[in-house]
Amino acid sequence: MTIPTPTPADHFSFGLWTINWTGGDQFGSRTRQEFDPVLVLEKLAEYGAWGITLHDDDLIPFGTPDAEREAIIARFEKGLKDTGIVCEMVTTNTFSPPVFKDGGFTANDRSVRRYGLRKVLRNVDLAARLGATTFVMWGGREGAEYDTSKDYKAALDRYREGIDTVAAYIKSKGYDLRIALEPKPNEPRGDIILPTVGHALAFIAQLDNGDIVGLNPEVGHEQMAVLNYTAALGQALWSGKLFHIDLNGQKSVKYDQDLCFGHGDLMSAFGTVDLLENGFPNGGPKYTGPRHFDYKPSRTECEDSVWDTVKANMETYLLLKQRVVAFRADPEVKDLMKSAKIDELAQPTLAAGETIDDILADRSAFEDYDVAAAGARRTDFVRLNQVALEFALGAR
Ligand code: GCO
Ligand code: MN
Ligand code: MN
Repeated sequence: MTIPTPTPADHFSFGLWTINWTGGDQFGSRTRQEFDPVLVLEKLAEYGAWGITLHDDDLIPFGTPDAEREAIIARFEKGLKDTGIVCEMVTTNTFSPPVFKDGGFTANDRSVRRYGLRKVLRNVDLAARLGATTFVMWGGREGAEYDTSKDYKAALDRYREGIDTVAAYIKSKGYDLRIALEPKPNEPRGDIILPTVGHALAFIAQLDNGDIVGLNPEVGHEQMAVLNYTAALGQALWSGKLFHIDLNGQKSVKYDQDLCFGHGDLMSAFGTVDLLENGFPNGGPKYTGPRHFDYKPSRTECEDSVWDTVKANMETYLLLKQRVVAFRADPEVKDLMKSAKIDELAQPTLAAGETIDDILADRSAFEDYDVAAAGARRTDFVRLNQVALEFALGAR
């Protein structure tokens, strides 16, 4: 097997904050310098990436005066034009500056919420100006350490008010932009509001402008909540809400590691790429958006090897893509999927036109049903997964 070369047709994109993470953490200072954002664009183009994403403050340092802000944006726009890199998603930093220590949209202090809303609305304009089509909202500071400090009902009211207001603004401006909420269970807050994909889906159903609000699920965030990322993507797709994705790696339940894609749970990454590239086995909605990486080059890396980590994400994805395509095309896999009855799951449980009375009268469904035989039936699930693993390992 040769290592595939990424091209813009693969639609790989990277957060500016990912490449520019300088390694500072609670226990130690930075181990690298930041790169000039225009150099990041040039490097991404050189390595075959397609897109970039950013927080307002990644590009324009917090507190930059307006005239300087304009010059920074104009220079970045020129960089996009010169390199052909697409700015596909923009998001707002409502978590780093101390003013947001209790959140942006759900802070107890009303003046903070009004300030947060203004920062986000200004950033919606920037997103539209840069041509982004997704506006991610990760509420990392929307939460609490102590139940005593938060009225959860009021916090959800304010969260809904905030998201609905941003969505209404996007609509009033006619921007080609959709909001993607990003769930996370904890970190930096002790508990974050909208901790999982499921919570966020239920929240979106309560919005007035929920038609343009969907999700940006991240691998590590679902796994921090001991949940299955591929299953979360499946439900988001089923709900018509998979607007964007954050791919990375996480090794079980610990701090948010943001490892390279595939460097955590490899078989989970196999399942994720299988769903993204091949879709549901019986058909249905498919994700067509960017393959976006939200990871952190580990603190052990130097400025040079950051680019190795950029390559690693894309190459692992492409390797898995080859593997999952070969997996689904394999005759033995097809047979095993058949004996696992994966196709039968797409068959409605009631026959066409069958009523509740009909099934109640069907003795073969219950009274005469051979429960023991059904309990002893062969499934071939383990065999199928072993073959998948053999494909993942390149043994087939
Ligand atoms: C995390 C989050 C963040 C957000 C990003 C977008 O790792 O905790 O993924 O990186 O995705 O800030 O707003
Ligand atoms: Mn993360
Ligand atoms: Mn993320």
